[in-house]
Amino acid sequence: MKFLFINGVNLNMTGVREKGVYGAETLEEINRQIAAHFKGDECEFFQSNIEGEICSALHGAKADGIILNAGAFTHYSYAIRDAIASLSVPVVEVHMSNVHSREEFRHNSVLSAVCKGVVLGFGKNSYILAAESFKL
Ligand code: DQA
Repeated sequence: MKFLFINGVNLNMTGVREKGVYGAETLEEINRQIAAHFKGDECEFFQSNIEGEICSALHGAKADGIILNAGAFTHYSYAIRDAIASLSVPVVEVHMSNVHSREEFRHNSVLSAVCKGVVLGFGKNSYILAAESFKL
């Protein structure tokens, strides 16, 4: 299978920011572990802090499944929501942290309703669990 992993705003700071929440490994290290887990599959990785670039990556996706951690965009980006809704490729929303045990503004996602499903709270393994769901 071909997977596209998209990370949004501030996810490039993983391993540097709020290590107690997101862990001490960098996004690059996490991506390497994901690629090793799915060594029989094709994994493409994209990260951007720019909302429109996330939309363009979604529009151009050539994959069987998209795994999307939009970061804080999750909570307010109708542009990313509309981009997901325009696709025929299924998207699984991912969060490393359990957003429901955190601040109230994180409890709402404007993306979930147009995603195939949501995986959250399993740290870096949220990405792997989300991609595994496409194989079921
Ligand atoms: C996050 C949760 C979001 O609320 C936050 O803004 C992030 C990361 C997560 O992976 O837990 O940047 O998506």
